[in-house]
Amino acid sequence: MNQLVDRWGRAHTYLRLSVTDRCNLQCNYCVAAQGIYTHVHREELLSFEEIERLTRLLANHGVHKVRLTGGEPLLRKGLPELVARLRTIETLNTIAMTTNGILLKNHIGELRRAGLTQLTISLDTLRPKRFARITGASVRLFFSVLEAVELAIAEGFQPLKLNVVVLRGFNEDELEDFVELTHRLPLNVRFIEFMPLQGNSWDRQRFIAAREMLERLAARYELRFLADATQVGGTTRDFQVPGYRGWISFIAPISAPFCYSCSRLRVTATGLLKVCLFAPPLVDLRRLLRTGATEEDIIGAIHNALQRKAVEHPPAEELSSVPTLPMTVIGG
Ligand code: 5AD
Repeated sequence: MNQLVDRWGRAHTYLRLSVTDRCNLQCNYCVAAQGIYTHVHREELLSFEEIERLTRLLANHGVHKVRLTGGEPLLRKGLPELVARLRTIETLNTIAMTTNGILLKNHIGELRRAGLTQLTISLDTLRPKRFARITGASVRLFFSVLEAVELAIAEGFQPLKLNVVVLRGFNEDELEDFVELTHRLPLNVRFIEFMPLQGNSWDRQRFIAAREMLERLAARYELRFLADATQVGGTTRDFQVPGYRGWISFIAPISAPFCYSCSRLRVTATGLLKVCLFAPPLVDLRRLLRTGATEEDIIGAIHNALQRKAVEHPPAEELSSVPTLPMTVIGG
């Protein structure tokens, strides 16, 4: 088995797969500027068969973890069936999903039974009106997300990860509230730095570095250092308030990039391969899959693309102008 290794010796073992470009929220820091993107038609999305084949090929070459993303992945019809198909790939040890939780209630049991092993819910605020303001959704949906958090834990997704993008002037005053959530619940709250992506109106004024978040919380809490996962292919630095059931993490892609241990490949909903969140797509995998390409052809194309992967992504001020794709298409 040839591993998918780039020029810098990084083995790629983690596939992030977008299953739809649609989302039922319009978080104002995420949605693409109007007009730069229109939704694709169904037949342009990779089918479940194509996703399964691609994942199986990648698993033959060392990929052992898959994360389903979007857009909002639960907007893709029949998602449990996809999970069940991926479950048949024996060397995959993790099938994860990142969701905004809104549609989770009706699918969670089925997803669990189909073989989903890890769940992340995105929730940037614990205040209903703020939620409505940032997402463009109704206050009622905020309560659906909270319900989904409790349900996911009850369903056995422990620890449940909660993604919080921290924005100055928006939710920076809620860091402590999120920490308190880890008191009662077995949650891993992950504070994420706001990243510039094409069309998302990033600016320094709204950005808060992870160090500032940590210093603020360290002034209020005794924080026990747990681990620095950025050393081993992860993205987080983890801390816990002693006695709390859950813990918190900081993700600092901008102020302290973790490119040197990057193990991630990304495939968009239409089958474009990206080797970095902050770089344009390099291979049209859908075309290969639909024109009779062999395993060798496909792995060869991915391997070639990996040889063009940069050692690290450019600094923040340059990133907004990199022609990537909106987050809804890339899938985080
Ligand atoms: N910066 C940081 N995180 C982002 N997300 C979406 N856009 C950005 C951004 N510009 C987060 C979502 C979700 C995850 C998939 O990515 O909130 O938790």
